Amino acid sequence: MTDACNALFDAARSVRERAYAPYSGYKVGAAILDDNGNVFCGTNTENASFPLGACAEGNAIGAMVAGGGTRIDRIAIVGGRDAPEDCTPCGGCRQRIAEFAYKQTEIHVLAANGTVKVFTMDELLPAAFQWPEKSAE
Ligand code: THU
Repeated sequence: MTDACNALFDAARSVRERAYAPYSGYKVGAAILDDNGNVFCGTNTENASFPLGACAEGNAIGAMVAGGGTRIDRIAIVGGRDAPEDCTPCGGCRQRIAEFAYKQTEIHVLAANGTVKVFTMDELLPAAFQWPEKSAE
C-alpha cells in the first residue's frame, strides 16, 4: 500500500470506532479522498426505527459535500463486527458513490485477511443510472 492509501485507511479505521451500530453490531468507517486532496469521513449511524439508519459511505459523502468537495478520487472502507470483514458498499451506496465518482474512481476495501481489495466504480456499478445531462460531463 502507498502512504496515501495507508493514511486513508487509518482515517476509515478510526472513524469506524465511532460507529453507532447498537442494533447490528456491524461497524463501518468510510474515508473519501476528493479531487482536491481533502479527506472526509463518515460512519454508520443506526436508529431504533431500523430503515432510518444511515451507511458510512453516505455520511462521508455528506461530509464531502458540506466541506465543498465535488468529486471522489478514492474511497477506503473498513467494516465488520469484531474485526474487519470484506465490506463492499451496499447497492444503495454504490449509486451514492457513483453520483460523485469517475468510472475509474477506486473503492478500496479492507478484506478479512488484512489485504486490500481494490475495485473501480465501473466494476462495482456497471451501466450505472445517470441523470441525462450529467452523463455528458
Ligand atoms: N453498512 C454501511 O455502513 N455501509 C455499507 O455499505 C453496508 C452496510 C451499515 C449499515 C448498518 O448500520 C450495518 O452496516 C449493517 O448493515
